Amino acid sequence: MTNPKRYLITSALPYANGLKHVGHLAGAYIPADIYVRYLRAQKRDVVFVCGSDEHGTAIPIQATKEGTTPRAIIDKYHEAMKQDFEDLSMSFDIYHRTSEPIHHETAQEFFTRLNNAGELETKETEQYFDEEAKTFLADRYIKGTCPNCGSDRAFGDQCETCGRTLSPDELINPVSTLSGKTPIKKKTTHWYLPLGKHEQFLREWILEQHKDDWRSTVVGQCKSWIEGGLQSRAVTRDLDWGVKVPLKEAEGKVLYVWFDAPIGYISATKQWAIDNKKDWKPYWQDKDTKLVHFVGKDNIVFHCIIFPVMLKLHGDILPENVPANEFLNLEGDKMSTSRNWKLDMRDYIIDFVKKENGGGQCVDMLRYYLTQIAPETKDSEFMWKGFQDAVNSELVSIFGNFVNRTWVLMHKLCGGKVPQLHTGILDDNDKILIGEIENAKTRIESLLEQYKFREALYEVIDLSRKGNQYMQKKEPWIVAKKLAENPEAQKSIDNTMYLCLQLTANLAIFINPFLPNTAKSMLYMMKVVDKLLDWENAGKLKLLSTGYSLREPQLLFRKIEDTEITEQIEKLKSGLKQMEEPKKEETKTESVVKSEIQFDDFARIDLKVGTIVSAEKVEKADKLLKLSVDLGFETRTIVSGIALHFKPEEIVGKQVTVVTNLAPRKMRGIESNGMILMAEDKNGKLQFLKPENPVSPGSNVS
Ligand code: 2FM
Ligand code: ZN
Repeated sequence: MTNPKRYLITSALPYANGLKHVGHLAGAYIPADIYVRYLRAQKRDVVFVCGSDEHGTAIPIQATKEGTTPRAIIDKYHEAMKQDFEDLSMSFDIYHRTSEPIHHETAQEFFTRLNNAGELETKETEQYFDEEAKTFLADRYIKGTCPNCGSDRAFGDQCETCGRTLSPDELINPVSTLSGKTPIKKKTTHWYLPLGKHEQFLREWILEQHKDDWRSTVVGQCKSWIEGGLQSRAVTRDLDWGVKVPLKEAEGKVLYVWFDAPIGYISATKQWAIDNKKDWKPYWQDKDTKLVHFVGKDNIVFHCIIFPVMLKLHGDILPENVPANEFLNLEGDKMSTSRNWKLDMRDYIIDFVKKENGGGQCVDMLRYYLTQIAPETKDSEFMWKGFQDAVNSELVSIFGNFVNRTWVLMHKLCGGKVPQLHTGILDDNDKILIGEIENAKTRIESLLEQYKFREALYEVIDLSRKGNQYMQKKEPWIVAKKLAENPEAQKSIDNTMYLCLQLTANLAIFINPFLPNTAKSMLYMMKVVDKLLDWENAGKLKLLSTGYSLREPQLLFRKIEDTEITEQIEKLKSGLKQMEEPKKEETKTESVVKSEIQFDDFARIDLKVGTIVSAEKVEKADKLLKLSVDLGFETRTIVSGIALHFKPEEIVGKQVTVVTNLAPRKMRGIESNGMILMAEDKNGKLQFLKPENPVSPGSNVS
């Protein structure tokens, strides 16, 4: 699609279940940001959307791990990820969240339209059910032995060891992670997207139409999916966390996270349009919009097969491209959150960005290295030594050096002003450099249009390398020594410095999509406004006017010291150790101590002894009991998740410890005003915490 009217660019919505690492950044975020900044410099109509993916089993699982609620988890990680992206200069037009009502409505409308049009099928199947927890088990809640590699760390959706995608039925010896018991099979009805019906469309659209302009890794993955036989995919789940299925007969079911998450791109666009008084519809419905999804390779099938089928059925446009990246390894090993072998964006921000004044230099150093090693065609490797080399030998010694030399010499030999260009005396070296500047635009542009960001960045650095070589050949500092005997030589110096200055202005335009903070510093040194960075200025030789005085030089990049690299490598290795050691002890250690708090933090919690005066089951909630607890000064309603452990009649009259100043929370429509404290043994059995001998209700616990 050449010259579309508008662009809608998306970066995969990260799960709000933890901090994201630099592998994520290199995969779906930096490339998208480069592309968008380039489009903006071209004055295109472009909207760049992203946001947190806040549904799916990953969220409640993390909540259990952290001993808190799913809501608290998404709030915490949404804010954290948003901040990290900002700190690393991601320029989303909106960073939205899938927990917003506008998203729930959009996803429900989408489901309803497909269902009403008869495009979904329902099927009754048998699924694993945990009799003790009285719940159907999401794939992630079932553990067992992998049929592929024999590892006993396989989940119902994927084996953590060999990476194979699994279905729960394939697991050998399945066990519920909720109760540790073997689950039974129970009937349940779900809604399915019959992908098989769309095979012809997918073949034509991907394997014919896009076989040459999509990355071969992407087409290859799609081909193997299509040829492996497209199965119907369930788009609903038995779960209580997610977007409710908008049908009466689907009580207790939510949309599968992979059904609602990509719709998050649409709801984010809607919210952006509301915030900016624009119309969102053309971005998803007008054929003259170019939609591009930036993702990592594990997301290919969802963005190239499932979501496009959904979009087609819904009457929306299809992506023009899905430039998925492969994976980024770290120091010779796969990045892994569970093994703590990773570099979180946050770690880099704390160790580098926040330590510098402004931090922009360090942001750009990371953006540079991650683009230079971008896993565009195959997996690649983040090596701390490689980071140091990239910064010291390329950014500092080539790009930074050229700009710095130009500035120092311009101040020394041209009085701090842009000299004149004497066209009559241009020599071959001048003419070659002029040709290089003029041609760079087409080359870089063409690479960016093909999503070859690595090569495009190489071209930019190479242009600055050519600047250094030119300077070396022209040696204006030597020419300056002959000025006394030959004043005409000033013209040659002027030409050299004029061209180096115009090259610097061009470099600012070219580097801007990749390293926006560097481009800003260059604008400052040139004393010009943002407008200079407009792409249409690239390749021009009159960007800085003769006679215009420029600022003093500033160093664009600092060197990375050996000690910084050693520290990082040691930190990485010790991080791995910390994670591995407690694992060996797992059977002996029953609990992990939470992070330290101050006495004041503790003192804010109001604990009192109460007496349970009545208890009853909560309708349609297997785990909940509604209790009335006498606290002396009042009787409170408290909803507690203990129904699987106690019968209501057994606990009336018992004394319990209550957190009395917890904010009220609604559970199944009942407002709960407090929390009962329990002790849980390693088998998950619960007991009340109560005084040794009865005390009067309302007694303080301190
Ligand atoms: O893999 C992931 O992190 C998913 N949360 C990506 C979702 S992308 C889109 F569909 F929202
Ligand atoms: Zn396996």
